Amino acid sequence: MTRAAIIGAPGYAGVELTRLLLGHPSFEITLATSNAQAGRAVTDMYPSLGGLTSLVYTEPNLEHIAQMADVAFLAVPHTAALEIAPQLLLAGLTVIDASADYRLKDPEVYERWYQVAHSSDELLERAVYGLPELDRSTLPGAQLVACPGCYPTATLLAAAPAFEAELVAGSRAFVDAKSGVSGAGKTPSASTHYPTVNEAIQPYKVGTHRHTPEIEQGLSIAAGHPVSVVFVPHLVPMSRGLLATVYLDLIEPMSSDEAVELYRERYANEPFLTVHPAGRMPSTAEVRGTNRAHIGVTVDRTGVLVAACVIDNLVKGTAGQALQCANIVYGYEETAGLLIPAPVV
Ligand SMILES: NC(=O)c1ccc[n+]([C@@H]2O[C@H](COP(=O)([O-])OP(=O)(O)OC[C@H]3O[C@@H](n4cnc5c(N)ncnc54)[C@H](OP(=O)(O)O)[C@@H]3O)[C@@H](O)[C@H]2O)c1
Repeated sequence: MTRAAIIGAPGYAGVELTRLLLGHPSFEITLATSNAQAGRAVTDMYPSLGGLTSLVYTEPNLEHIAQMADVAFLAVPHTAALEIAPQLLLAGLTVIDASADYRLKDPEVYERWYQVAHSSDELLERAVYGLPELDRSTLPGAQLVACPGCYPTATLLAAAPAFEAELVAGSRAFVDAKSGVSGAGKTPSASTHYPTVNEAIQPYKVGTHRHTPEIEQGLSIAAGHPVSVVFVPHLVPMSRGLLATVYLDLIEPMSSDEAVELYRERYANEPFLTVHPAGRMPSTAEVRGTNRAHIGVTVDRTGVLVAACVIDNLVKGTAGQALQCANIVYGYEETAGLLIPAPVV
C-alpha cells in the first residue's frame, strides 16, 4: 500500500479526497491534517464517513507527515502550498497539489494574478500539469503534480479538441461558466451565504477571475499559438457541479455531426469522458459525485461551434482528478477508486 497524507483534510477538497481514498485498493490514508480540527475524529466532523475510518485529524507537522506518508495530497489554499510543497519534496515525498500554486508556468503571470511573488521558478518548471485527457505523458513518476482548477478543467476539455485540430478562427475563445457554491470552499462568506446565492444567479469576477490565465495557458498549448479568453463565471444555486460552455468561430463551416465525430475521435480512449450525440447537451446531474466529464458539441445556425462540458467541481474538478493523476504517477490502474456512478435522482 502507498501511504497517503491529506493536508487540509476537513476542507471540501480534502474530505472528497478522504471519501475517494478510503475506497482505493492501493492508497492508505495514514494522516489527515488540520489546524482547526486537530484532535477531532474525522467521522465526528463528517458522519457520512461513519464506519469507514477511525482517523483523527492531526496538526500539519512537516516531520510527522514525512515519517507517515509517501505521497501528500495538498488540499490547502493557494500560497499555503508554496510553503509546504518544497519541504515535502525535499523529504522525498510525492506531492499532488490541488491548489493554484504550481499551475502557471510563468512566475510573473502567477504574481500578477495572485498578487504574491512565486518562491520557486525551479519547482514551477518541474511541476506537471495534471489534466490527463490532454497530456498524461509526463505524469508517470512525477514528483510534483499541479492539479488544474475546476473551471479550467471543464473549459479545456470543451475547447482543446477544436484548437488542436486548428478549426478555430482567430485566437480568442468566449467562455460562459457556472459553478456550484462548494467551488468557493468550506468557509462561508457574504457572497456565498445561502440567502445571497439561493434563487439567484450573477456573473462575478468578469475579466479578473484567477482561472483566466490558466485557461489561456492550456488553450495556447492546444492551439500552438497564444490564445486569449473572455471568461464569464457565475455561481449557481447548487452545492456541486460545474458547466463550462465555449463559443468558437470556425475557419471553415462544419456540421454538428462532424464536430461530434472529431471530439469522439479525440477522446476515444478516455475512461472518464463521454461525448454526447449531436443535438444532446450534458447536465451536471449526469456527473454528480463522479470523476466524469460529459461534453455536448453543436455547430449552431450562425456557424459558431458551441461545446459544453459538465463536471463535478469537487471530483473531476479537484479530488478525483488528483487521484486520477496519482494513479498514473504510481502506475496503478488510472480508474482505480474512481469508477463510481452518479445517482440518477
Ligand atoms: N472547492 C473546489 O471546488 C475546488 C476546485 C478545484 C481546486 N480547489 C482548490 O483546492 C484547495 C482547497 O479548496 P477547498 O475548497 O477544499 O478549500 P476549504 O474548504 O477552504 O479548505 C481548505 C483547507 O486547508 C486548510 N488550511 C488553510 N490554510 C492552511 C495552511 N496555511 N496550511 C495547511 N492547511 C491550511 C484549512 O483549514 P484547517 O487546516 O484548519 O483544517 C482547510 O481544511 C484550494 O487551493 C482550492 O483552490 C478547490
